[in-house]
Amino acid sequence: MRFLITGGAGFIGSHLVQHLISKGHSVIVVDNLHSGKIENLSSVKKEIVFHKMDILEYDKLRNISKDVDGIFHEAALTLVQESFEKPKEYHLVNVTGTENIFKIAKEFGLKVVYASSSSVYGNPERIPIKEDAKRRPLNPYGETKLEDELLAEKYSSKGVKIIGLRYFNVYGKGQSISYAGVITKFLERIRNKQPPIIYGDGLQKRDFVYVGDIARANLLCMESKINPAFFNVGSGKTTSVLELANMIIKAAGLEIKPDFEKPLQGDVKESQADISLIEKMISWHAEMKLDNWLFEILH
Ligand SMILES: NC(=O)c1ccc[n+]([C@@H]2O[C@H](COP(=O)([O-])OP(=O)(O)OC[C@H]3O[C@@H](n4cnc5c(N)ncnc54)[C@H](O)[C@@H]3O)[C@@H](O)[C@H]2O)c1
Repeated sequence: MRFLITGGAGFIGSHLVQHLISKGHSVIVVDNLHSGKIENLSSVKKEIVFHKMDILEYDKLRNISKDVDGIFHEAALTLVQESFEKPKEYHLVNVTGTENIFKIAKEFGLKVVYASSSSVYGNPERIPIKEDAKRRPLNPYGETKLEDELLAEKYSSKGVKIIGLRYFNVYGKGQSISYAGVITKFLERIRNKQPPIIYGDGLQKRDFVYVGDIARANLLCMESKINPAFFNVGSGKTTSVLELANMIIKAAGLEIKPDFEKPLQGDVKESQADISLIEKMISWHAEMKLDNWLFEILH
């Protein structure tokens, strides 16, 4: 099959591109390299078609999409803290950009599997979080992801096949440090023999899920007959940020303690996916174990 991937030079997108190529699919990547890097695609550069362009360039995007069988939409602005400073820019790329994809999918009868986020839930009433929990994002980034979900519901009701994947905290190789999640940031500090920096008391809990598992979930959803749907994509387990820091310090064989700084604005206290729905519907669960991956990466 022939797929378009937006944001394919980014962290998750580039792993998805590699996964699709490994399964024999043809891939067209659209990315403006805002945070993505062409080097992320170096292992597959001869096998893909790459367009350095913005998802806001509607006509170009429409032309490129004419001959594909489906769209994976990963492109977005992804920094929670930055979204407080640039809410309009976040809205433009994340909401208008996503609606462009849905419009094109409607015109050409294409299925879309796209990146939503666990940030749509905000601080949930119950843990683990089920897909029907209230959506109450705590920051402008999360608000754009909620608006995308409302658009997905609108376009689904008009017959467009859309699956939104609510990724939890994704880890793996290839995140640029300025855009990185907590694991990449801690690893970077540890490699320089510096203590990890924890914002707040470190008791905030996260559900960490491996990027390769995310890539698998995307393709399984594209291949499935399910429509429409939002799925949690997490490991179903939680680790506190303090536990994570200690895990990494231990795996590196260092004798240091983490540093603590004041809590970040709009930071969720606890997050854990209930993954029973995606397990039931597409037989997916996360295969990678965080401690195994940390050990592998540090040795
Ligand atoms: N990493 C996580 O833990 C996580 C969690 C939940 C949801 N997500 C979502 O997953 C998707 C991928 O995230 P990521 O972690 O790989 O981030 P990333 O920043 O590495 O990837 C985003 C990609 O989109 C591209 N991009 C940004 N604006 C663009 C535009 N206007 N036109 C074309 N390309 C554009 C960037 O250059 C980058 O390559 C995003 O939608 C993000 O919101 C990520």
